[in-house]
Amino acid sequence: MKKKRILFFKITGLLIFLILLSGGLSFWYVNKTFLTFENGYDEQTNFSELTKDGYTFFDRNNNGKLDVYEDHRHSIKGRVHDVLSQMTLEEKIHILKGAGMASGIGITKPGGISGAVGTIVPTPRLGIPTIYLSDGPAGLRIEPTRKGENKTFYCTAFPIATLLASSWNEALIYEVGNAMGKEAEAYGIDVILGPAANIHRHPLCGRNFEYFSEDPLLSGYMGAAMVNGIQSNGIGTSVKHFVANNQETNRLLNDVIISDRAMHEIYLKGFEHIVKRSQPWTIMSSYNKVNGTYTSESNNLLTNILRDKWGFKGLVMTDWFGGKNVAAQISAGNDLLEPGTNRQWKALIKAAGKGELSLDHINRATTRILTLIFKTKKMQNYSYNNSPDLKKHAEITRNSASEGMVLLKNDDVLPFSDINNIALLGVTSYEFIAGGTGSGDVNEAYTISLEEGLSNAGFKINNIAKQTFETHKIATIESFKKPEGLESIFTPFTPSEMKYTTEQLHDIVTTSDIGILTLGRNAGEGGDRLEIDDFLLTELEHEMIYNITEAFHKENKKVIVVLNIGGVIETASWKNLPDAILLAWQGGQEGGNSVTDILTGKLNPSGKLPMTFPIYLSDHASHDNFPKNPKMFTLEGMVKNLIFPPNETPKARKVKDEDYTIYEEGIYVGYRHFDKKNLDVSYPFGYGLSYTKFDYEMLEVSQKNDTINISLNIKNVGKVSGKEVVQFYTEKLNSKIHRPTQELKAFTKTKLIEPEAMESVSVKIPIKELSYWDEKKNDWALEKGSYNIKVGRSSRDIRQIEQLKF
Ligand code: BGC
Repeated sequence: MKKKRILFFKITGLLIFLILLSGGLSFWYVNKTFLTFENGYDEQTNFSELTKDGYTFFDRNNNGKLDVYEDHRHSIKGRVHDVLSQMTLEEKIHILKGAGMASGIGITKPGGISGAVGTIVPTPRLGIPTIYLSDGPAGLRIEPTRKGENKTFYCTAFPIATLLASSWNEALIYEVGNAMGKEAEAYGIDVILGPAANIHRHPLCGRNFEYFSEDPLLSGYMGAAMVNGIQSNGIGTSVKHFVANNQETNRLLNDVIISDRAMHEIYLKGFEHIVKRSQPWTIMSSYNKVNGTYTSESNNLLTNILRDKWGFKGLVMTDWFGGKNVAAQISAGNDLLEPGTNRQWKALIKAAGKGELSLDHINRATTRILTLIFKTKKMQNYSYNNSPDLKKHAEITRNSASEGMVLLKNDDVLPFSDINNIALLGVTSYEFIAGGTGSGDVNEAYTISLEEGLSNAGFKINNIAKQTFETHKIATIESFKKPEGLESIFTPFTPSEMKYTTEQLHDIVTTSDIGILTLGRNAGEGGDRLEIDDFLLTELEHEMIYNITEAFHKENKKVIVVLNIGGVIETASWKNLPDAILLAWQGGQEGGNSVTDILTGKLNPSGKLPMTFPIYLSDHASHDNFPKNPKMFTLEGMVKNLIFPPNETPKARKVKDEDYTIYEEGIYVGYRHFDKKNLDVSYPFGYGLSYTKFDYEMLEVSQKNDTINISLNIKNVGKVSGKEVVQFYTEKLNSKIHRPTQELKAFTKTKLIEPEAMESVSVKIPIKELSYWDEKKNDWALEKGSYNIKVGRSSRDIRQIEQLKF
């Protein structure tokens, strides 16, 4: 008996020892591979000074003399050339990958920035500093608090990209970008990982909220405005995810099978506009493959197209841990591996040793990385103050959010008049959603709910409706707990919805003047959305809309539905019920105030849809080839993938829409498909109402050399001042090839036009932009003949047409 007990204790002890050992070993492995492997490369910040011709310089390499690269009077090219000549091969290889994930998860060295998700490593021997990179498209994402410090480091949550695109206002987006850049500058971040410019190929891509539109011209122009705004501060951008990253399901391995024509006309086109209009400092390659090759390993995409054809001058970095073969990546023109691992470092050394990675390619990538470093404020010896003007930026986000909200329906109910007591219905009215989840999220100090927004404007919030919500919240408190820390990255916050009894509704209706029902949706990185209970409303939501509108209408009172969503939902089956529908999107931290500004008429809505709202999801041509059973990425899954990178599925077992996705619809994405097939939609591309009306007059179209010049007058014929988005589409008549019925080729937004006043607007369209991609010639080709030049309020509300012949 005693022997057995001893044996039992021995075995248990051994097991505990083994568990601790394997736990310890795993931790050691993770730490040495992904977190802290940069020993011996600590950033140097104390330099002695050199003075020459009345200027002061840092003696970065401590050699007592002024080197060309230390002298800011020289060109960046000359300085980079000089420093490159002083670097050892080891130092060059070292700089090709980042320092790992440590600062991204809050483990920082002195002077580090907690939450900065990537770095360019320093070269201490030559006094080259660490460069910090951080997300993302809706505002800067760093940790808001730091151990042992009382000071907070909150950033402004600006509206999601889809909302910004709905403003169709490049100047406004520039202003938002400028504010984001200023925050980065204040917090010591050198490059913002955004904007994101993938096409909305299908409504259910989980990251659509980070992207602008289903149309490449709108995506490209919006993206360029954002880049120009951010970079006007001397802060870089990383335009992502290049290219065809249109689903989250199996994003690390998914192979996009696509025609060259669709690639050039739809998926590359937006990036081309951005590169040509704003020359971003960096581009981020995507995780996926295109026709069998990882984008980060594609010489055709990263060198032939991006650099040689478009003239991109910056560096390309990988998406986080993206791609497989480091030598293939650097050789293809993917210069920087982010966030960098010890494994990659070793693999680079090995590849260079074996000649798989040439010195020319190492020098090319290093030169591009050094060029970025020399452009940063860090190299201009600036010290950041950690004090961005958050108050001013809150004002900017408030106004920009209102301008991108789209009024979908208004049966004489908005703007408010004679309203005092407002019944707020639906949990989202009280728990407004500022933005999506994942790396596109921001750590903001607060989010203004609709309840707060309306209260701030002096309205009374119906007490019975509010009490009903409070009681519901207490009863379902678990679902109201917001995911925190790393967990929050892959877990959208979705509190449970309310069910109203007939009695409750009766009490609410009889004590209020109007009802506002907010419907919310939240999605993000790592998962695509579902059709059931997400694109389609839940049964409970249908019941709410039906019962609420019936109860209010019985008492002759109106109901407004506010959509606080990040992507398209079904609207056709219920839109006849409420009196007004405001698509508020996810408007950032001032969302509730921004919605209130529209509801009260302080601002006249002027947003227009950057995508189509279909009747059925299956109406989209891409629907046949989009994941139907998406699996959400988890934190554990991510860690597992890092330690054991997933292998290719053998060919015979490859699963459609997971291992590969065939873009069978080709160029027929969004309205290009709906128009070609003459399909009814719930709301068309470019659609949005205003509180006033505009007349389109005096269209003039002419051709001069290689350009089409278009001008017309926009007259405000309503009673309140407003802005109008004017859209220009072209249509090839009697085309010999298959091509979309019409395509957006230009747009402009008027200033605020007073009632009875008029604004003349004009745009230019380069004739070559009417070309299609000719797969035989492997180049753009212009079809000769007649084209309709159409001007409209939306893609399906064309007001004037003129013909031109080339
Ligand atoms: C995302 C990128 C992001 C990066 C760093 C990746 O998972 O796809 O968009 O910039 O993480 O957070």
